[in-house]
Amino acid sequence: MVKKAKPEELGKLRAEIRDVTLDIIAKAHKRMELSERIGTIKGNLNIDIQDESVEQEIRSSVFEFSNKLGIDPTFSGRLLNILLAESVRLQQIQQRRTEDITLKNTHLSVFMKAKELESSGKKIIHMEVGEPDFPPPKSVRNALLESYKMKQYHYTDSRGLLRLRQAIANKVGNGITDDEVIITSGGRFAIFSAMLALLKQGEEVISIDPSWPAYREFVDFAGGKIKILQTTIEERWTPNLRKLEEMIGQNTKVIILNYPNNPTGKVLNEKEISKIISLARDNELYLISDEVYSDYVYGRFTSLTHYKYDKIIVVSSFSKSCAMTGFRVGYGIARKEIIDKMARIQAIALTSVAEPMQHAALSAIDYNPAGNVKLIKERLDLISKKLRQMSLDFVSPQGAMYVYPRLNGSIQTDAELVNILLELGVAVAPGSGFGENYKQFIRISACQPKELLKRGLEIIESVLSVR
Ligand SMILES: Cc1ncc(COP(=O)(O)O)c(C=O)c1O
Repeated sequence: MVKKAKPEELGKLRAEIRDVTLDIIAKAHKRMELSERIGTIKGNLNIDIQDESVEQEIRSSVFEFSNKLGIDPTFSGRLLNILLAESVRLQQIQQRRTEDITLKNTHLSVFMKAKELESSGKKIIHMEVGEPDFPPPKSVRNALLESYKMKQYHYTDSRGLLRLRQAIANKVGNGITDDEVIITSGGRFAIFSAMLALLKQGEEVISIDPSWPAYREFVDFAGGKIKILQTTIEERWTPNLRKLEEMIGQNTKVIILNYPNNPTGKVLNEKEISKIISLARDNELYLISDEVYSDYVYGRFTSLTHYKYDKIIVVSSFSKSCAMTGFRVGYGIARKEIIDKMARIQAIALTSVAEPMQHAALSAIDYNPAGNVKLIKERLDLISKKLRQMSLDFVSPQGAMYVYPRLNGSIQTDAELVNILLELGVAVAPGSGFGENYKQFIRISACQPKELLKRGLEIIESVLSVR
């Protein structure tokens, strides 16, 4: 028989739960104090704030303890990740490094500085931007005018116009249906909404560096923890799949892939993709595959839409393929339940993508980008040839729109070179914007006419050869 609840017992339990909560806060306070003291010592000894092996040691103890108590270790792991994130934040303040972090050099910060210089009359060659310099398909102009004439300028379903979703599903094929497609505000919002839809506080996302800096920001914002698998130029930017496997833990939820890759131009082969998918399947992980550069491929590329695994989310966009960056139309492809969650987030944040822009995208669906792709390839070849003459190391891009060379002269850091070049009227992206360990790299974008690229490269050569 169920015991009848007594009101005074409820009051007692509530008082007890309050006291336990206060105990937890007091312990958290104590933990923060310890963390600050550790931060000071690390600062004095010039030791990195984050140390994977130390984190792993605490993680193992936490899991062991949780199992002993009979509490769900994945919950304890998430809680630990929140505490660790707070420690990192406090130690950064302690070492007065927050300024460096907020002012960190990225392609965007260089772009802003370049714009500022331009507004004071200086001429800048923009080799930092990842924005195609050609116009959108001709059909787009008509579609925009037509959508105005037809009064197609209203809110739409937050998943996007059915006709556009159907057109994308047809184009992608592989049995994808319209309810497995969402139209988002750029590929950016597809990735961001997927992260928000999938992640609980403290869950982990594995990202492969060097990578687009937004991934880290998305994960931080969603309350997750980013774990970085480094790749190197020596390994030709191929991720070490054994290391990847070792990084997967109880709290890992997502692996994010970006091939063709920004900034390296790397493309994975089918064997590598299959191996990653089987790792994800064995560990029940989601895979977000950012394929916004999938049209810019100079060899073989297989989209993850070809693979049957129900935790894959493929993201693409009209931004790069159709040179429609400012239209802000991208899309995600995934199982219906995931799409519905992403749509709810888009409904909360934006209602829907602007209707005229969706019509513009629909008009561009059959656009053949071959001419633009050929042009970008020619420019990449031009950049590569010059970099070889300058004896800089790089891996020839198999896709995307960038070359990512390593500096080898007396200028060893990207920040130093970026600043000197800006003074001389050339903007390039600092390599460290794509991951902490890449200070010796810069990213050169092929989104400018050949003549400008040649001039920019000559200026880079003159700086590197003098030093
Ligand atoms: C790797 C990568 N993914 C996604 C995007 C986002 O593109 P958009 O939001 O314009 O579709 C970019 C933009 O530069 C990118 O480099």
